[in-house]
Amino acid sequence: MTEVIPPVTYGDSSAEANTSAAPFAITDRSYIPPQRYFNRTFFELENEKLWPHVWQMACRLEEIPNVGDYVEYWVASYSVIVVRSSPTEIKAYQNACRHRGTQLAQGCGSFRGAQIVCPFHAWRWNLDGSPSLPMYGSEGFEDRVMRPDDLRLVECRVGTWAGCVFINMDLNAPPLLEALHPVPDFLDPLLIADMRVDWWKAVRLKANWKLALEAFMEGWHVRGTHTQLTLGAGDDFRNPHDLQHSYENGHASLEKDPNSAAQGTVKSSLGLGGTADPEQTISYLRMVHEQLQTSVLAKDLHVAESLRTCPPEQFSKNFVKSMYAWNAGAGIKLPDPDPAVLGLWSSQWFIFPSFKIHPLFGNAITYRSRPDRDDPEYCYFEMWSLTLQPEGHDPGKPKFDGVFEFDDEAWPLIARQDFGNIERQQRGLHMPGLKSTRLARKWEDGIANSHIQLDRYLAR
Ligand code: FES
Ligand SMILES: [Fe+2]
Repeated sequence: MTEVIPPVTYGDSSAEANTSAAPFAITDRSYIPPQRYFNRTFFELENEKLWPHVWQMACRLEEIPNVGDYVEYWVASYSVIVVRSSPTEIKAYQNACRHRGTQLAQGCGSFRGAQIVCPFHAWRWNLDGSPSLPMYGSEGFEDRVMRPDDLRLVECRVGTWAGCVFINMDLNAPPLLEALHPVPDFLDPLLIADMRVDWWKAVRLKANWKLALEAFMEGWHVRGTHTQLTLGAGDDFRNPHDLQHSYENGHASLEKDPNSAAQGTVKSSLGLGGTADPEQTISYLRMVHEQLQTSVLAKDLHVAESLRTCPPEQFSKNFVKSMYAWNAGAGIKLPDPDPAVLGLWSSQWFIFPSFKIHPLFGNAITYRSRPDRDDPEYCYFEMWSLTLQPEGHDPGKPKFDGVFEFDDEAWPLIARQDFGNIERQQRGLHMPGLKSTRLARKWEDGIANSHIQLDRYLAR
C-alpha cells in the first residue's frame, strides 16, 4: 500500500514545504529513487538547499584547544574556517577573502600573531572576523568599497555539542540544540562530550555521501556482510526484534517531533539487562574488539573475560558492576549507572544529514560523510573511535591517522566489509532497469527518514 508522506514544516514555520516538489522526491517511504545518489541536478539542489542551511559537525573541540587554532571544514565545494578566537569562544567564517575571494586557510593549523592573512595580497583579519586595519594597499581603492563593516569575514553560526563544533552557514537557522532535539536529552548523560579520540581515519569512496552513511544506518546487513558476527553471538546480539524496536523507535522520535534533525534508537540491542551466556558474550565482544577496533576496547574485554565462570543469569549484572569498578580504579568516571542510561549503551544515533554516534560502555564510534570533489559519486568518509579518559588526563590534540583505501588493512575488518559494499552499490544503482530501490520498514526505516528530511530541505 502506498503511504502518502504529508508536507511538513521545517525550521521557518512560515514556510510550508511540500516535500514532493523536489525532483526524485520520496513519495512512498518504502522506495528510494536511485537518481538521488548520482543525478547532477539532484546533487546541485543539495548544494544549494541543504549544505548552506544545515548544521554540520565541523571538527572536534580538541582539535582547536588554543587561541588561534583553526580547522578548515569543507563540504562539496564549500569551505568554512573554524577558529578558536578566545579561550571561551569559537568562530566560523566562510573561507573567502573579501578582496578577491581567495581561500584564507586550508587544512588545519594556528594563525600566527592572531591574524588571518590572505596569501594573495596580504589583507589581514583579527580572529573575531574584523578587518585588521589599515588593509594593505587601501589607498588604491575607492572609499566606498572599503567600509570596515563590509570587510568583515562572513560569519557562520557556531554551536558545540558532544565534544564537537557544529557550523551552519545560514544565519537564520534555528539554534544547534533546537535542531538536535531530542538527541542531547538522551546522549548527554552518556558523557559523550567528555570522550576523546582514540583513533581517527578517513576513506575516499566512489559513492554518494548518503550511500556511505546508510551502510551504517541499519544492523540488518550484519547477516549478509559480517557473517562472522552472527556466529557465536548470543540471541541478544542478533535478535531481529531488537533491531525492529530500534528502528521503530527511531522512526517514532522523528514522527513525534517532525522538526527534529536527528533520530535515534532508544533500545539497546546488546541486551545487557537479561541473561547472557558468558562464553558467547565474551567471544562476541572479542570479535568486535578485534574486527572493529572500537566500541569494545581492550579494557572492556579484559573486564568481560574476568567473568567467564559467572552464571548466565548473573553475567549482565556482574559485567556492569565490574565495568564500573574497573573504570573507577583507573580514574575513569563512567555515566550514572541509571538503568535508563545503561539502556542506551549500544544505541545508534543519526544526526541529519551526515553524522552518526554509536555509544557503547564508556566509548563511542562516530561517523561523518560528505560529498567530495564536487561530484555526486565521490564522498569523503571518516570514523572516530572515542573513549572516556582518566580524570585530569589530557591526551592533547587528536592524531589523524590518515586517508586509507577502502580495502587497506589499516581499516578494521568490519569497516572493510562495509566499505566493500558501498562502491558496488553505487555502480549497481546506475542500471537502467533498476527503477527504484526498496527498504524494509522493519529494519531500514531510518534511511527513509533521512531522505524525507532531505526532501524537506530541497523543497524549501
Ligand atoms: S585576494 Fe585576498 S588580499 Fe587579494
Ligand atoms: Fe556493517
